[in-house]
Amino acid sequence: ASDVYKRQEMYDNWEELENSIVNCKKCKLCTGRRNIVFGEGNKEADLMFIGEGPGADEDKEGIPFVGRAGQLMNKAFQGLGIDRSKVYIANVVKCRPPGNRVPEVDEAKACLDYLRNQVILVKPKIIVLLGSTALKNILGNEYGITATRGKWIEKGEITYMPTWHPAALLRDENKKIEFWRDLKEVVEKYNSISSLSLIHISE
Ligand code: URA
Ligand code: SF4
Repeated sequence: ASDVYKRQEMYDNWEELENSIVNCKKCKLCTGRRNIVFGEGNKEADLMFIGEGPGADEDKEGIPFVGRAGQLMNKAFQGLGIDRSKVYIANVVKCRPPGNRVPEVDEAKACLDYLRNQVILVKPKIIVLLGSTALKNILGNEYGITATRGKWIEKGEITYMPTWHPAALLRDENKKIEFWRDLKEVVEKYNSISSLSLIHISE
């Protein structure tokens, strides 16, 4: 196996992990990025969201889900009473794939140790897998998003909810309804197992 497939060391703190990513050249996506999109949110969240990879807007700002798909997700969050700052959001790959194509196997594989490290540090109880790329890379290639979405999958300490990627909602009203339904279930389960509030409480 090439170096890319070697397991990197795991970091036990955020600073070291983030520093290790800033100059990462483990895969060919490093050549096209403007910014690394590391992840954002509550580093002690019980609820984590995993997307695919940065698009143009994310690449520009260095923040996940700030483009059109992200705005749609924010709208769902607002409607369901999820304060974005109370959850943690990350992607399978940290650098933008050219033309927003799906990350290739070697790229996802090279980057996945970072995501695993993020999951280990956040220790979420629930992970929402946004779309096929997140589903297959986290739970395995045998899973298909159409058959799996909306169904809870327990693995180890974490319960997973696969659902549509927000970008898929932009062109399909049905998927929008299912996405909302899935996230509503997530909020209900969350409220039954977490002591942390998802709602923004102003003082
Ligand atoms: N799509 C993703 O998968 N992640 C982002 O951060 C933005 C769009
Ligand atoms: Fe490194 Fe991930 Fe960027 Fe590839 S996508 S260069 S593995 S940070």
